[in-house]
Amino acid sequence: MTDTLTSWGGWEPAIRDDPFGHFAQARARCPVQRMRLADGHPAWVVLGYDAARRALHDPCISKDMLAALQEAGDVVAEGLPGPEFSRHMLNVDPPDHTRLRRLVSRAFVPGRIAALEPAIRAIAGSLLDELDAAGPGATVDLIEGYAYPLPFGVIGELLGIPAADRPRLHTWFQVLLSGWVGDPPPTAVEASDGIVAYLRELVDDKRRSPADDLVSVLIAATEGDALSTQELLSSLFQLVVAGHDTTASLIGNGVVALLDYPGQLQALLADLGQLPAAIEELIRFTAPVPHATFRMTVEPVTLDGVQIPAREQVLVCLGAANRDPGRFPAPDVLDIGRDDGPNLGFGHGAHYCLGAPLARLEARVAFEELLGRHPGMRLAIDRDALAWAHGDGLVLRGLVSLPLVLGPSRRQG
Ligand code: HEM
Repeated sequence: MTDTLTSWGGWEPAIRDDPFGHFAQARARCPVQRMRLADGHPAWVVLGYDAARRALHDPCISKDMLAALQEAGDVVAEGLPGPEFSRHMLNVDPPDHTRLRRLVSRAFVPGRIAALEPAIRAIAGSLLDELDAAGPGATVDLIEGYAYPLPFGVIGELLGIPAADRPRLHTWFQVLLSGWVGDPPPTAVEASDGIVAYLRELVDDKRRSPADDLVSVLIAATEGDALSTQELLSSLFQLVVAGHDTTASLIGNGVVALLDYPGQLQALLADLGQLPAAIEELIRFTAPVPHATFRMTVEPVTLDGVQIPAREQVLVCLGAANRDPGRFPAPDVLDIGRDDGPNLGFGHGAHYCLGAPLARLEARVAFEELLGRHPGMRLAIDRDALAWAHGDGLVLRGLVSLPLVLGPSRRQG
């Protein structure tokens, strides 16, 4: 029998790099539809804003894929770095979700996040000093030199990863998150093994000598039986993954979007106080996380009039929902003065991004420092030659590199 399902993901580069036209066509066909993923599995893809919002907080749609798939008798692919590292808040439902999120939230209380601002600014400043050392006319890679190491340094500070260990860990994560189709390549297995061994060692070290950091706070919770060692290791892994690539993509994608819209860039340069609103718009418009993570129905659910049976995979396309013309007028235009209310870029409901306040702070400081020093930056290559990354294009959308000529630095005069 011929499979009549439309395919979703695993796109050719032209669609993966700029998926919004493709998203719009699919959403116009139907805001909720069953499609075939690149790995062959069917999934209900949710593209309309209202349906997406509903799907993200409907209790009949589970985040515990492992339990749901096992119950359905499905073979569960273990993936990297394996089941011992997959028991974190993004993979479980209440009451486990509530418990794990509450524990990790201790590091994300507003005072603790705000207190990170000087450290974030210092990291941004020293990265820009390094880029400036190349000279005002030199081509620099903003991803490698700024967008990536900035959030990685910040998550390192928050967790208590010694600065000397970060480059090694950073390289492993880059390999692990580079994406592939099918079996993981040996380099990814090696990187994964390196991360696993490193995180175990870090936990052993902090057990011996606790400090004022999140790893030590979570270790204390394992001693009180509130957290198992598997949950501790999984949470650390998930925080590093969720905490850097996403923000790096926001910074890189955001710079490209502003260069694409010089009028918007000039308006922002005239008043950097608009940055908080501009960052919300850059998240909506550039979709650093184009899809939420996979979910599964545990009961039948109706979304926007479409019935989804129990035990079906659900994939919410945040990038499509955030450009739903029924919710955002002129959705395909970047408008930093937009006043249309919240978008779904950080998700919604119980799994709403725990790191959103930190990501917003990092992005604000990153843009303040970059635009403050280099208001005249420009692309060093053709816009069409930019290299976009991230395997199947489902979970992350970002650049491999962003060659820029920064121009004279205002700081150096
Ligand atoms: C621009 C940057 C970021 C974006 C766009 C983003 C986006 C998201 C989204 C869409 C989700 C929900 C996924 C789902 O429901 O399937 C999420 C969850 C999460 N994010 Fe972020 N994120 C960002 C930065 C960060 C940072 C900096 C951290 C931590 C340091 C972080 C930690 C988390 C955690 C822990 C969760 C899981 C929350 C839960 O399951 O309750 N994120 N993020």
